[in-house]
Amino acid sequence: MGLFSSSTQTIPNAGEIPNHIAVIMDGNGRWARKRFLPRVAGHKRGVETVRDLVKLCAKLNVKYLTLFAFSSENWRRPENEVSFLMGLLMDALKREVAKLHENNIRLKLIGDRSRFNKALVKQIKVSEKLTAKNTGLTLTIAANYGGRWDILQATNKMIDSNPNQLGPFTEEDLTPHLAMDYAPEPDLFVRTGGEKRVSNFLLWQLAYTEFYFTDTLWPDFDDEAFQAAIGSYQQRERRFGRTSEQLSGEQLSNA
Ligand code: IPE
Ligand code: IPE
Ligand code: MG
Repeated sequence: MGLFSSSTQTIPNAGEIPNHIAVIMDGNGRWARKRFLPRVAGHKRGVETVRDLVKLCAKLNVKYLTLFAFSSENWRRPENEVSFLMGLLMDALKREVAKLHENNIRLKLIGDRSRFNKALVKQIKVSEKLTAKNTGLTLTIAANYGGRWDILQATNKMIDSNPNQLGPFTEEDLTPHLAMDYAPEPDLFVRTGGEKRVSNFLLWQLAYTEFYFTDTLWPDFDDEAFQAAIGSYQQRERRFGRTSEQLSGEQLSNA
């Protein structure tokens, strides 16, 4: 059994404030090009948005914030942009981890680390270890992450840990091996930058997540824009397969 219930096996409790928010931080390049700056200037500016958003989530009592920083397909970008992004991740970890720790924030990285240089792998380990026992917000950075990679690595680990079992396997066998075994499924998914796609983010975990898309570019995504996303979430009726009538019946019986 995993730590958290599955949205397809049981009906989750959904509160006013999403417990877990997953974000595709998109539009940095376009933000920079609009200002006749190099694309990487947008990435640099995007880190400031991350800082503000982390603060706001901690204040709102969001328990898990998961940010897509680099996809398994982003290696296809020009080499100078890829190395800038890797450097930015390294610098941000070094610079921010003490502050995160002070604020009782637990930091996690998900993704395939095998392509990272040694110094970055080390920095990730140190940062995770320092903040491991913190009980406030859990901030997850997805770097060299892909939803398909995650499902496959979990499948392989599941098979390795059950060498005598040929199947059939269940959700409960698989989910403890997913990269985010320590978090419930996201309640709210946000994508900035106008594209309406998942780009190989958390494919398994998004099964019943509410989606919110905005044209706002990531560096412009301020507290007000974020509150609008939460406001939209609060208007949704999360049915998890049931009918609307069943839900209002439930509310009556709870009243
Ligand atoms: C998102 O911004 C950041 C990363 C993918 C690392 P983009 O760099 O994709 O910005 P656009 O989509 O080109 O504007
Ligand atoms: C998704 O953005 C990945 C991250 C934000 C890290 P992309 O800009 O790479 O996505 P596509 O290529 O437009 O789908
Ligand atoms: Mg993009």
